[in-house]
Amino acid sequence: MLLLHLHPRAVPAEALAFPRTFALGGIAVVLFVLLAVTGSLLLFGYEPSPERAYGSVREIIDQAPFGAFVRNVHHWAANGFLLVAFLHLLRVLYTGAHHPPRRANWIVGLALLLLVVASNFTGYLLPWDQLAYWAVTIATGMLEYVPLVGATLLRAARGGSEVGSKTLALFFVMHVAILPILLFVLTAFHFWLVRKGGGVILPRREGEDAPRRTLVPTSPNLVAREGSAALVTLAVVLLIAAVLEAPLLAQANPGMSPNPAKAPWYFMGLQELLVHLHPAFAVFVVPLLAAALLLALPYLRYGEAASGSYFHSRSGARTA
Ligand code: HEM
Repeated sequence: MLLLHLHPRAVPAEALAFPRTFALGGIAVVLFVLLAVTGSLLLFGYEPSPERAYGSVREIIDQAPFGAFVRNVHHWAANGFLLVAFLHLLRVLYTGAHHPPRRANWIVGLALLLLVVASNFTGYLLPWDQLAYWAVTIATGMLEYVPLVGATLLRAARGGSEVGSKTLALFFVMHVAILPILLFVLTAFHFWLVRKGGGVILPRREGEDAPRRTLVPTSPNLVAREGSAALVTLAVVLLIAAVLEAPLLAQANPGMSPNPAKAPWYFMGLQELLVHLHPAFAVFVVPLLAAALLLALPYLRYGEAASGSYFHSRSGARTA
């Protein structure tokens, strides 16, 4: 059993309590698998050229058996993946699990988050509708404001000066091959580091360095809980996909931008910053500072070692 290879034979009973992790890492894995399965199915119908992309997506929706449903599952699982990866980051941060011995895994986690955002963003363009075309035009356009190398970055991201056939080819290869492979490899490394770090962080009381824990066999205790979380995740995504259609507007028209043209929801903060700040600050300085802060967090020490309990203390909870 693959699951038993991933886990030690026995785990601390305390690690099984749902609020320890809210199963968020596991849910992210389930969504990743669901995305791989539905994405592979979509590949049977999708054609990555500006002439055929939109039409092929329409055919998937209107003619392929369960085509619309498979596309809806892929769409909602992708958005859920981003949300769940972010909530998982918050869980890790608020339990202090970003400190040694888990520091390296925090950095790997940040790289994973970047890959999840990149996967979402590259997928956004593929339907080649007005929403996709203009969102990618706006989001890649932000790169132009990066000092010195802005124009080069913009050309690299678009494969030319405009969003066109080269952009679609580039995004397609990234989305279906390069990013999924990187995600898979890095996730495997992430799991290995979880075990190397001694498993999920557990609450530790003052003055206790290595408290004695009661161990229980991984199977069925952990495996059954993981199975339940996976089934609930699957049920929720399938239900959402059954009632909520993934958007598809009119075919992309490079000559007519919708008003207002919007970046994807996860870049809207940046788009909004552009309204209020100098562009170089909005798309370069602020994101760079945010990234530097996230990378620096495990190196910032404030008194005693991480406690493993949520927010560490009352004042920690207030700060959070
Ligand atoms: C593709 C996205 C990700 C997947 C599939 C994933 C999966 C997992 C899993 C299954 C665990 C075991 C415990 C748990 O379920 O919470 C875990 C732990 C951990 N993750 Fe992630 N993760 C992802 C992204 C991230 C991100 C964005 C961060 C933070 C930057 C992160 C940092 C960590 C750390 C530090 C641990 C150890 C926590 C502990 O020992 O309590 N991961 N991850």
